Amino acid sequence: MMKQSQITYWCHEVIRSQAKKGGVYIDATMGNGNDTLMLCELAGEVGEVFAFDIQEQAVEATRILLEKHEVTTKYHLILDGHENMDNYVQWGSVDAICFNFGYLPGGDHEIATKPSTSIVAIQKGLELLKAGGMMSLCVYSGGDTGFEEKDCILNYLKELPSKQYTVIVNQYFNRGNNPPMPIFIFKK
Ligand SMILES: C[S@@+](CC[C@H](N)C(=O)[O-])C[C@H]1O[C@@H](n2cnc3c(N)ncnc32)[C@H](O)[C@@H]1O
Repeated sequence: MMKQSQITYWCHEVIRSQAKKGGVYIDATMGNGNDTLMLCELAGEVGEVFAFDIQEQAVEATRILLEKHEVTTKYHLILDGHENMDNYVQWGSVDAICFNFGYLPGGDHEIATKPSTSIVAIQKGLELLKAGGMMSLCVYSGGDTGFEEKDCILNYLKELPSKQYTVIVNQYFNRGNNPPMPIFIFKK
């Protein structure tokens, strides 16, 4: 598959090019740890990464991936919902936050992110960001995911004050079957 057709490719590219290196990052949906690994590479030895998931299986898969890559970053793999991220991370201290909504690839499709907690997590995430910080969101719809979460997220983002946030919503414009949406938010 061409890398440009993968949503995570764009999220990683934009975070790598836009976020400050060696900073503090959050992976709000750890899953198999691919985003956590990318954030650890960006953090290096001076930065710090906080990663969240509600499934033990995700925390274990991520731990194994980071150990395999001999990651030396200070990281915290937290078995808790991203809607509680403000219990672990200081407000105004974060350089970038990565959300990859939906269910764990290869896991139970029933254990997926939910509109109500996703919105709380985005809201808290925006408060945790520093001025100049950014958030990336991979948003899915159709199939087992349905449309409620995507609609709730888009409605919420539409109302964010443009004086405080730049919100960029992207589309795979000529692809059928409800393609995922890469979204980027920059805090002024
Ligand atoms: C699409 S996967 C993430 C993929 C992952 N970033 C990777 O690189 O493999 C979505 C993950 O969100 C997790 N999740 C669902 N509800 C959550 C919540 N409230 N807080 C944090 N994670 C949640 C699921 O357990 C699942 O592992």
